[in-house]
Amino acid sequence: MDNFWQSLPKPLLVLAPMEDVTDTVFREVVLSASAPGALNVMFTEFTSTDGLCHEKGREKVSQRLKVNKSELDRLKAGNIKLVAQIWGDNPENFRKSAQLITEMQLFDGIDINMGCPVNKVVKHKSCSALINYPDLAKEIIYATAESTDLPVSVKTRIGFNQIITEEWIGHVLETKPKAITIHARTRKMMSEGPALWDEIGKAVELRNQLNPGTVIIGNGDVSSYGDALEKAEKYGVDGAMVGTGIFRNPWLFNQIAPEITIADRIELMRFHISLYRDTWGGSKDYNVLKRFFKIYLNGFAGAAHWRDQFMRALNFDESLELLCNMQNEFRMKEYITADRY
Ligand SMILES: Cc1cc2nc3c(=O)[nH]c(=O)nc-3n(C[C@H](O)[C@H](O)[C@H](O)COP(=O)(O)O)c2cc1C
Repeated sequence: MDNFWQSLPKPLLVLAPMEDVTDTVFREVVLSASAPGALNVMFTEFTSTDGLCHEKGREKVSQRLKVNKSELDRLKAGNIKLVAQIWGDNPENFRKSAQLITEMQLFDGIDINMGCPVNKVVKHKSCSALINYPDLAKEIIYATAESTDLPVSVKTRIGFNQIITEEWIGHVLETKPKAITIHARTRKMMSEGPALWDEIGKAVELRNQLNPGTVIIGNGDVSSYGDALEKAEKYGVDGAMVGTGIFRNPWLFNQIAPEITIADRIELMRFHISLYRDTWGGSKDYNVLKRFFKIYLNGFAGAAHWRDQFMRALNFDESLELLCNMQNEFRMKEYITADRY
């Protein structure tokens, strides 16, 4: 199987895994707003290996690994790779999960989450807690890699309570993962304070000495396409991953920042609501969709008013109707040129 982490041209631009965010719908929204060649890799939300290995649990977690045909077509057309991210603390379940994911034939790689800081996972020796259990971390990486021909990668942090970048990343490098994404904060830092990119620079030097075959992706506070390129160059990483930056600008993956009109915002929001309804209408709560509205409704006069209106909309039909009202109002105000419609 192709090790795309090595074969794709560098630097790689990557959309971060984000729980309750980067499902097939949001990924397709981002794909539709990205320019060819400006986005290379995307991740699923993290998926429990215990869940995947349990008959009833599998049903519950499988929506995290859903990939719409329309998303798959866009991924193929743009040569953009999709990585399934998994988490847990039992190597056997990683082994079985990797097999299951490989059999699905939807994914280009498997990533092991060793970074999530939340208590409910950390108390089970999972995710960032594996930084404190390095032998178990190794066992998990080996068990996963042994049972798939997909490239296996790790996403982690620079320490648990303290910064131990070289000790921890050195340890992970011994297992020769195909890539390591480093979120430049400790678990203790959660998402607070600036990301410590100098630590990523240290990890790159270590990689150069110990295992040049492992790709290093830097993560933390990447704010724009240009910022991703600058950070990649400055710290010598093979790529940069964007997380929350996508909420401030869903058009971030464009080499030349496009000028975004209100018509563009309305169009992308309509696409998002419709695709969410068609994909999840019967299974996911409509209210989850509301947290995305502020992505589109900002940066123009009257945005706060419209955000307030959309927060009151009770279902898909009401929010789509509001979108029509908004479109009409801006059209009347001639904020939008007539030829856009
Ligand atoms: C809402 C949300 C959900 C997240 N879920 C995951 C996840 O499932 N797996 C993971 O490895 N990281 C997850 N993260 C962490 C991001 O992938 C990323 O490492 C972090 O946001 C730092 O990048 P940024 O500064 O660009 O936002 C999540 C972050 C956010 C904000």
